[in-house]
Amino acid sequence: MIDVESLTIDYGLADRAVQAVERVDFRLEEGRSLALIGPSGCGKTSILFALAGLLSPSNGTIKIGGGPVTGPRREVALILQNAGLLPWKTVWQNANLSLLLAGDYPEHNAGVILDDLGLTEVKSRFPAELSEGMKRRVGIARALSTAPSVLLMDEPLASLDTLTRERIQDLFLTLWQEHRFSLILVTHDIVEAAFLGQEIIVLTKRPAQVKATVINPKMGSLDYRQSEAFQRTVHDLREALER
Ligand SMILES: Nc1ncnc2c1ncn2[C@@H]1O[C@H](COP(=O)(O)OP(=O)(O)OP(=O)(O)O)[C@@H](O)[C@H]1O
Ligand SMILES: [Mg+2]
Repeated sequence: MIDVESLTIDYGLADRAVQAVERVDFRLEEGRSLALIGPSGCGKTSILFALAGLLSPSNGTIKIGGGPVTGPRREVALILQNAGLLPWKTVWQNANLSLLLAGDYPEHNAGVILDDLGLTEVKSRFPAELSEGMKRRVGIARALSTAPSVLLMDEPLASLDTLTRERIQDLFLTLWQEHRFSLILVTHDIVEAAFLGQEIIVLTKRPAQVKATVINPKMGSLDYRQSEAFQRTVHDLREALER
């Protein structure tokens, strides 16, 4: 269970103080998926960083698996907007970076995930030799290499073309169904939120507050984009964002 209560995040001091997040509450049961959507600069990344243990809230609490989050932990993985690949390391080394840094030698997991992500053939290549979509997939492989129970994603597919985006969204859906981690996705994209979120939280402009929660119970199949339920969720999200 992920339990966020009254999360408030401020930056800076005195006359330079910026309130980014104000009293945000949400809960997520294990293995479920949640999308967070809101205007640019509203505080989405701040929420994700707090969940990842990379910044401490100014107020409120975050609990993952019962205990309060006090710093980064191995079972919580984060995918950033640019995949954060090291140019001098190969696909295989980049995908296994977390394990290699922890002094573990990746045996079983790594090969399977690279295979799932269609990267086996390029595992000896360097990032400069990859397409943008492949780079994002290496970032995904890295995040999954430690078999996390929680996957946090910050606009993982921003600036990809529509088809590549949809293909990787399909991949996320399949991986989530297979590995059953809890998924929290931050996105600007209504369609992406409606495809991947069982529940979607719409945030206000800064400071982020919960404006609406849209339930999306029919998501979960690759052809969901063609359904009426999907169109309804997209419509509800657009309306909530524009309200
Ligand atoms: N380290 C910091 N110091 C001061 N202000 C910050 C800091 N980090 C973020 N902010 C401010 O906090 C607000 C929220 O930032 P955040 O990055 O969480 O927004 P976001 O919703 O992720 O934006 P985007 O959609 O553009 O990615 C912004 O106004 C930003 O300028
Ligand atoms: Mg952001």
